Amino acid sequence: MVTWKTYLQKHCSQYLEELFEFLRIPSISSQPEHENDVERAAEWVSARLQKAGIEDVQILSTGGHPVVYGQWLHADDRPVILIYGHFDTQPVDPIELWSNPPFEPVVKENRVYARGATDDKGNLLIPILAVEALLKTQGTLPVNVKFFFEGQEEIGSPQLADFIPSHRDLLSCDLILSADGGQWEEDQPALHIGLRGICALQIDVLGAKADVHSGTYGGTFMNPIDALVRIIESMRSPDGKVLVEGFYEDVRSLSDLERSHIAAIPYSESQYKKELGVDELFGEPGYSTYERAWTRPTLEVNGIWGGYQGDGLKTVIPSKAHAKVSCRLVPDQDPDKIIELVCAHSQKYAPKNVNVTVSQIPGVADPYLIPYDHPGNQAARAVHKELFGKEPYYARMGGSIPVCGILLKALGAYTVNFAFGLNDENAHAPDEFFRLSSFELGQSAYCKLLNHFSEWKPL
Ligand code: BES
Ligand code: MN
Ligand code: MN
Repeated sequence: MVTWKTYLQKHCSQYLEELFEFLRIPSISSQPEHENDVERAAEWVSARLQKAGIEDVQILSTGGHPVVYGQWLHADDRPVILIYGHFDTQPVDPIELWSNPPFEPVVKENRVYARGATDDKGNLLIPILAVEALLKTQGTLPVNVKFFFEGQEEIGSPQLADFIPSHRDLLSCDLILSADGGQWEEDQPALHIGLRGICALQIDVLGAKADVHSGTYGGTFMNPIDALVRIIESMRSPDGKVLVEGFYEDVRSLSDLERSHIAAIPYSESQYKKELGVDELFGEPGYSTYERAWTRPTLEVNGIWGGYQGDGLKTVIPSKAHAKVSCRLVPDQDPDKIIELVCAHSQKYAPKNVNVTVSQIPGVADPYLIPYDHPGNQAARAVHKELFGKEPYYARMGGSIPVCGILLKALGAYTVNFAFGLNDENAHAPDEFFRLSSFELGQSAYCKLLNHFSEWKPL
């Protein structure tokens, strides 16, 4: 009988071709002109699940971008594992910084370059291929499996906070595996046990009813850019603490064990600075770099605009100024409460001479934490030890995956991060890539992990 390992090896080049096909679909969820491409990506995923032997495959509408569901539920008395990933991608801009067109995948030095390669199409395809290899070689699976893939993660999964609770029976499971996330280094595994939450808002400042001559009117009324800068300045202390009243109120402090897990991860400040291309680091005092990146909340300006941006001088006082601000959140902060606090703060510090509107930008995520010794993590740890020959680090991710919190609330099930991207793979940036070695390793890792669960009783 052919083993799953041999099956995977035999299909290696076919799987790569299929990944390319998937990567050629420009499924950018934030841009309305690509709505149809997100739909096409859903269709591609749905067809691929069916080909793998998954049953009852459906594309379900959510009111926004669709989700894809499929199942294989013939392992009586075995647990149900739900596998998650997203088939939408980030936009490609700035396009001129890409070495190749972002939706024309190329392989260089054993890496596939394309938008979505690591985040998340390469990772999403891995568990489908692993399940196919198990089904085609053994005719059965060691556990019951459900697949739940979405097309709106990169815009904050706005419809899923309603969709998931209203599809509880369909999605019910003992454990979730996320194929979105990653590992530490090529030869070092990590169990990612936390994600930060997020909420965001836009500040719009209106001064005069139109742009006006800065010679004629300058010095007689308030420039909206100045007002905006003052509002933003009031939000943080010079040493990097957030000054919004009540912001830290619900932040759970780190236990000694949590601190020791993070302290056990090797850290080189010079390496970290080099990665970023900065001479100095900056941030909230009293916490290490990784503690700040994973376990402390932030308030950041993601964009600011207004006034003249072209060549040379234009003597104008702009009519409007704008900023986008987002907060990364940690347990037990609540995104809705933080939005309220930041709105109230912005209004309180808004100079009275201008007109300030603060509005929420859709897309929120709750912070997420799974017990480091959760049975799902213990199983993942055993697989990591087998494949990498090393103990995984207990790390967290500073980024957000909205469904983790939604699924925990709605289904009471935890999500184990089981994905194979690495931090240097330019997710969200030009020249995004995925290591082909990770693509292959991930397939074996999923086969092994699913086999591990066969010893489980349903939780
Ligand atoms: N895969 C990322 C989340 C992530 C980031 C995991 C860093 C591991 C390390 C996900 O696709 C993502 O980018 N999420 C967004 C969510 C936002 C748009 C609500 C994020 O974190 O910015
Ligand atoms: Mn992702
Ligand atoms: Mn992303």
